[in-house]
Amino acid sequence: MKVLRFKDLVNEGRVTGQRVFIRADLNVPLSAAGEITEDTRIRASVPCIEMALQAGAAVMVTSHLGRPTEGAFKPEDSLAPVAARLSELLGREVKLVANWVDGVDVAPGQVVLLENCRVNVGEKKNKPELAQKMAALCDIYVNDAFGTAHRAEGSTYGIAEYAKVACAGPLLAAEIDAITQALANPKRPLIAIVAGSKVSTKLTILQSLSSKVDGLIVGGGIANTFLLAAGQKIGKSLAEPDLVGEATAVIAAMKARGAEVPIPVDVVCAKTFAADAPATVKAASEVADDDLILDIGPKTAAILADKLKAAGTIVWNGPVGVFEFEAFAHGTETIARAIAQSSAFSIAGGGDTLAAIAKYGIEQDVGYISTGGGAFLEVLEGKTLPAFEILQKRALA
Ligand code: 3PG
Ligand code: MG
Repeated sequence: MKVLRFKDLVNEGRVTGQRVFIRADLNVPLSAAGEITEDTRIRASVPCIEMALQAGAAVMVTSHLGRPTEGAFKPEDSLAPVAARLSELLGREVKLVANWVDGVDVAPGQVVLLENCRVNVGEKKNKPELAQKMAALCDIYVNDAFGTAHRAEGSTYGIAEYAKVACAGPLLAAEIDAITQALANPKRPLIAIVAGSKVSTKLTILQSLSSKVDGLIVGGGIANTFLLAAGQKIGKSLAEPDLVGEATAVIAAMKARGAEVPIPVDVVCAKTFAADAPATVKAASEVADDDLILDIGPKTAAILADKLKAAGTIVWNGPVGVFEFEAFAHGTETIARAIAQSSAFSIAGGGDTLAAIAKYGIEQDVGYISTGGGAFLEVLEGKTLPAFEILQKRALA
């Protein structure tokens, strides 16, 4: 895939003294008190910013945070905590600038953070008026927001259409290269773990993986829908009964290829969704009408751990249980430790997955950690991300 790369522009001396606009993905999870709970995305965005500063550019960086209402900025939408963390990581003060669409004051060698770009009217629907104004702020537009590259928004797509120069930052380029290459010729068995609350939001990835992987481990609400497809009772558990047909089709497609979707043989149940709800391990066949399945059971976890230890390649997206609650974290912890111990090349992505990796301290034992959630899944599916597609178009023009 041919796109202009920021690194090449730097090496050619084309960045010095230029106004550089970097779209990063600094959308990190925040606690109720507004503290950053996981900063992988900020750390991963630093190399591009440093590259631009070292080249002597006037650097503007922006990102979205959450899903705010356009034109109605609220204090909780602010990138202020991100500006503080970025200042620490860069070892210099990063000023946060609000209301920046009509002009930004920044000199070569300086960096400013432009407030939450999703508060700008027209961002989400990629209105040309906004995109043109953003493009006019810079000489070079750099998209380094891999986590948002599956969105065609003003700051990820429109600005790339109008900017004088539009290129890919090092993170965006490295992510797409790493994920594509890992799956181009994977060492087998290739096992994917796709977990999360809803089959509906991950149906296309489940379908696409069912033609590629040797084992497809499902978890969370997704597993509950698969349990229904396997004819099991799930009580009051989160599931999508109207998608049982799709789940059945995925199981059948896997089976036809001699591959499998391991269905949990035991589960951990509670009567209410709460951190202190008493946890009961049950055979999958013994789930009662008033049970909520909140984790896979120890037998299932051990079976899956063995498969992961024997894998050649592992793709991980999503915790298999409610790992935020200690009593329902064992399944996810067992999976995480098995991935860490496995000699397989492992790639992991998604916010909750990164949180689980951090919780169990296995960062060093995962082959590649992606900053993308939805974007990670779409690259795995073999899709060309919109943000990347426009950079390809610009490279051809
Ligand atoms: C993410 O967290 O998945 C990305 O930052 C994209 O955010 P979005 O799903 O709100 O577009
Ligand atoms: Mg998301």
